[in-house]
Amino acid sequence: MKNGPHDPSWVQDMHAQHYLQSWSKQGSKPRVIAGGKGSWFWDTDGKRYLDFQSQLVNLSLGHQHPKIVAAIKAQADKLCYIGPGMGSDVRSELAALMKDITPGDLTSTFFTTGGAAANETAVRLARHYTGRHKIIARYRSYHGATGGALSLTGDPRHHLARADMPGVVRMLDPYTYRPPSGHANPDDCPVCQGAPHLEEILMYEDPNSVAAVILETIVGTNGLIVPPDGYLQSIRETCNKYGILLILDEVMAGFGRTGKWFACDHWDVVPDILVGAKGINSGYVPLGTMTVSTTIADWLKDYSFPGGLTYAGHPLACASGVAAIRAMQEEHTLDNAEQMGALMRDELARLADNHPSIGEVRGLGLFNAIELVRNRETREALVPFAAKNNAAAAMQAMMKYAMDEGLYLSFFSNVIRLTPPLNISEEDLMTGIDILDRTLDIADREYR
Ligand SMILES: Cc1ncc(COP(=O)(O)O)c(C=O)c1O
Repeated sequence: MKNGPHDPSWVQDMHAQHYLQSWSKQGSKPRVIAGGKGSWFWDTDGKRYLDFQSQLVNLSLGHQHPKIVAAIKAQADKLCYIGPGMGSDVRSELAALMKDITPGDLTSTFFTTGGAAANETAVRLARHYTGRHKIIARYRSYHGATGGALSLTGDPRHHLARADMPGVVRMLDPYTYRPPSGHANPDDCPVCQGAPHLEEILMYEDPNSVAAVILETIVGTNGLIVPPDGYLQSIRETCNKYGILLILDEVMAGFGRTGKWFACDHWDVVPDILVGAKGINSGYVPLGTMTVSTTIADWLKDYSFPGGLTYAGHPLACASGVAAIRAMQEEHTLDNAEQMGALMRDELARLADNHPSIGEVRGLGLFNAIELVRNRETREALVPFAAKNNAAAAMQAMMKYAMDEGLYLSFFSNVIRLTPPLNISEEDLMTGIDILDRTLDIADREYR
């Protein structure tokens, strides 16, 4: 059919003319995607792409996982919607599952429609619970696109949107490849150690005015930065010392992405509030989570919960969450993420032998990245921080080349994130590495 949804050029035109796309200039005509299965998706010309991003790092079980699709269909047949205050089998089942898979004494979950709303609610609850106002957040962070979440966010989208919730104080990131305080060695860096930097900020800000520290356990969008061992423990101890809550945002890093249910499990650190979304149900239906400790949950028996949403605990979302978590348990998906992740980092290290532009390979599980440089000695970044347009030409050329070769990649500044579905096969992983190998020739041409 011409001039309707079945005509790809009509889809492109309507997209360009009437659809507003996230975080970009409008009017572009995208590739029209016809379908997907597992780690692959394809366009209306039948060209196939290997999804090395899991779309927005949410499609953890790949496209069209049959168990999740079946659960959504079954729930749609049974009951599409029931208000958040009513009892619902799938909502209770998902809340109980969350208690099982989250660490320590995290016990009770509020369900939202995504990561931003979960972070908003976490911050509001932290202020309500502590009676304090300030929130310490980091520069290299993305916490979502609603007013409060964007104010917590440090990446440049924060400026674009002029986000300005009062009370946000910024802290630097434990970026060991480029120690932020100028120390050559991360072991000497007060920021990479955690407590010394936080203590200094608290000295100026007054710890009694700080409700919470919010961190992405592993920084996702803003460069995939894995904290050094000891960092999170040190932040946790400092928070304990002053009665400050620790909120860990695991919207990207959680639900098996790093080979464990949550990234904080790698360091045995338990936050007071854990925020999730994305991988909980592979993004098939919008869903976010905010899980609180027993202490906060008990306190909430006497003090009203400061938040609510029409779609809190939506049955279709909860059904898909239950199915996805059970599928990950039945199919040993976390083991696969750990094994394929180790293989991926070995392969990336091998590529680094031949590609001088690879400055660093880093990551955990299938949450990996390569940081590209113009020179390994000076570590000059291949493109500047948050580069756009011409300044980002080398990165854009790589993305285009890879896409033409059938590999879907994305980048932030000079970092390529490599986050395929957690159930990717070894064969597909190696196909992606092969295309990446050729793609990196473009970066090597910029090497000095
Ligand atoms: C760490 C982190 N937090 C929060 C969000 C926001 O989630 P959502 O887009 O579902 O609101 C994102 C989205 O990419 C994220 O990566």
